[in-house]
Amino acid sequence: MITKMKGTYDVIEDIGYMQEIEKKMMTVSRLFQYREIRTPHFEASSLFHRSVGETTDIVSKETYDFIDRGKRDNTLRPEGTAGVVRAFIENKLYADKVQPQKYFYYGSMFRYERPQKGRFREFRQFGAEVFGSNDPLIDAEVIAYAVTFLKALKIKDVTVHLNTLGDQESKANYREALINHLKGGVDGLCHDCQKRFHDNPLRILDCKVDQENPLLINAPHPIDYLIDEDRAHFNNVLDALKAMQINYEVDQRLVRGLDYYTHTVFEIKVSKDLLGNQNTICGGGRYNNLVETLGGPVTPAVGFAFGIERLIVALKAANITTPDAAMHVYFLTLGEAARLVATKLMQRFRIGGLMCNMDYLDKSMKAQFKQSDHQNARFVVIIGEQEVAENTVNIKDQNTSESYTVSSGDAYHKIMELLLQGSGCEDCDKGAK
Ligand code: HAM
Repeated sequence: MITKMKGTYDVIEDIGYMQEIEKKMMTVSRLFQYREIRTPHFEASSLFHRSVGETTDIVSKETYDFIDRGKRDNTLRPEGTAGVVRAFIENKLYADKVQPQKYFYYGSMFRYERPQKGRFREFRQFGAEVFGSNDPLIDAEVIAYAVTFLKALKIKDVTVHLNTLGDQESKANYREALINHLKGGVDGLCHDCQKRFHDNPLRILDCKVDQENPLLINAPHPIDYLIDEDRAHFNNVLDALKAMQINYEVDQRLVRGLDYYTHTVFEIKVSKDLLGNQNTICGGGRYNNLVETLGGPVTPAVGFAFGIERLIVALKAANITTPDAAMHVYFLTLGEAARLVATKLMQRFRIGGLMCNMDYLDKSMKAQFKQSDHQNARFVVIIGEQEVAENTVNIKDQNTSESYTVSSGDAYHKIMELLLQGSGCEDCDKGAK
């Protein structure tokens, strides 16, 4: 037997959760006026090298790379931002009438990581990106969007962790301070960090191996190296969050694991009790130089991405259930003539908006009843030899155990009446008695 690849999984049991997440994503995205964008699952490898960064763990260790038959270097997308930026530039969305441009996306991402709870090799993200505004209110809107989405899902006990890196000048000041701090103790760091010290010292701060090393714990904080303008930007973001009554914690050690960030960076976490160490359900921030780096016009941008699998674990752990996968009608038939009548009625019912099913396995009446139960049918419509002869059907309401015999032509209306009972439609209430 061929089995699934390590770090992947089949969505079977969890499909209800996933669909609920997708539904809420659509609704909240409309409220915030973000349009969906769908970009390819694979892109030129150089796109990720130039955006996420050569020396990040994602690009240096975790990408799925392949050379196609035309000898091109391809990479399965490890995240969504780079592809959306590429699409923004390639489709000249910076020239669109609507500005700033606001997009959201949903789909699989691929990272060759060590699989564990909440960490997969193929996982899904719901992400959002805004292009064209450097307004701190947009940083705050993006965070509000993420928080509102979690509210819609009824996920509570989340914390927004926030920090700022500042723009180029502040980042350069900080880099210098960090190098000065680290240079005496580099030899005591892991092999990767010794390399990072030369290539990209900031990445040392999100090293998974050296997290508890005092040299890192006592490292200087970006917030202390901000130029005035960048500090004002961050303060304005915080003021807007306060105005929207969004709780946050400034976490001066937060730097994020991707190179493109400037200014605001944030992560949303749920308690470790729910998700263990992989308790970050959302990460994001501003990236004001990426569009230009990838060949577009100077365009400030900001965004986030949620990990869907981690959201599902959080939903389950909080005992949040998804709506039942109930349906309306299961047809119970006896004999060929009855099956044909059921086929005809079922098509009419389905066009009329009722969710229906019937037996296609020639099962006994008892087994068909069982199926109607397994499939959560609200009604069973029974058609036997007598019903065929009299052109009637027998409807049984599983909620009340009441039965009704009606002509087959009236069956649809009868079921609709019963469904609408108690919904404020007086005629339906009368008719159902
Ligand atoms: P990221 O922090 O790399 O950011 O990923 C965002 C989220 O994806 C994480 O917080 C986590 O919930 C989920 N995630 C990441 N890796 C895995 C994995 N192996 N298995 C399961 N879930 C995972 C980004 O991807 C940025 N593109 C976010 C962004 C958008 N920044 C600006 N715009």
